[in-house]
Amino acid sequence: MDFLRVSDLEPEALRELVALGARIKSQPHLFADALRGKAVAMLFQKPSLRTRVSTELGVHEMGGHSIVLGQDSVGLGGREPASDVARVLDRMVDVMALRVEHHGDLEAMALAAEAPVINLLSDVAHPCQAVADLITIADNRPLEGAVVAYVGDGNNVAVSLMHAVVRTGGEFRIANPPEYSIPSAELEAAEEFGTVTETESPVEAVSDADVVYTDVWTSMGQEAEAKKRLTAFEGYQVGVELFSQAADEAIFLHCLPAHRGEEVSTELMVHPRQRVFDQAENRLHAIKAVLLACVEAPV
Ligand code: CP
Ligand code: NVA
Repeated sequence: MDFLRVSDLEPEALRELVALGARIKSQPHLFADALRGKAVAMLFQKPSLRTRVSTELGVHEMGGHSIVLGQDSVGLGGREPASDVARVLDRMVDVMALRVEHHGDLEAMALAAEAPVINLLSDVAHPCQAVADLITIADNRPLEGAVVAYVGDGNNVAVSLMHAVVRTGGEFRIANPPEYSIPSAELEAAEEFGTVTETESPVEAVSDADVVYTDVWTSMGQEAEAKKRLTAFEGYQVGVELFSQAADEAIFLHCLPAHRGEEVSTELMVHPRQRVFDQAENRLHAIKAVLLACVEAPV
């Protein structure tokens, strides 16, 4: 199985992935040999902390071998087309896991290779993050009926979170300036699975929500637009006051890295109901579940 987008998964498959991640979290040594003899090639075209460490460590803790390729040496899409890179890796490794600038490169690789391809973040989706987000919500309350309010850019993280929430019985709300909303095709696809509300008002989105989530206003690769985005997102910072409009037991999530003073206040990052570092830890449990599902390991 490839794992390029949350929207490729049936709700049941996503629920199983989240349950497996939660099981791994409670019994970390359960699959210590599951990747024995298997090699995972990783490539990052953009910076990473959580994804890099969780994937490399996850492979190691399940007995596999990871090879981290440098973009400078591989030249994915430049020195060599993504499809040829995939055909070559397919002869040698069991899984390819990549963070790419262009989602199309992942699709080309998935088409060209038999080995599973995992999206470690692209310009359009961040599915492994969404699995960790669901594990984090489920650590705090049932996924069924959870109202998740995302305030900020309708980016890769927002898109994957939306598809994840509606597939697991939750309601998704998003507040942003209209020019930064989630692409309409993605919204329409998500609406087939559950309720999605778009608004320009952060207060309307957050009101009585169970989860409040934000991400950076300027994603990796969009640095040239940073100034314009800072202006456009004025009034969209998630701070303690906005968070207080959410339900009493609400939690605050952020995929990290966080830009304090921009999309999130310094105070909210240390609020007793923030769960952002649990969420970061859950990247490890999530990627293990994703790897097991992709190699079709018995679980
Ligand atoms: N959340 C996330 O993907 O973090 P990194 O960019 O550090 O991997
Ligand atoms: N939306 C951010 C997420 C980083 C984990 C980006 O793409 O840079």
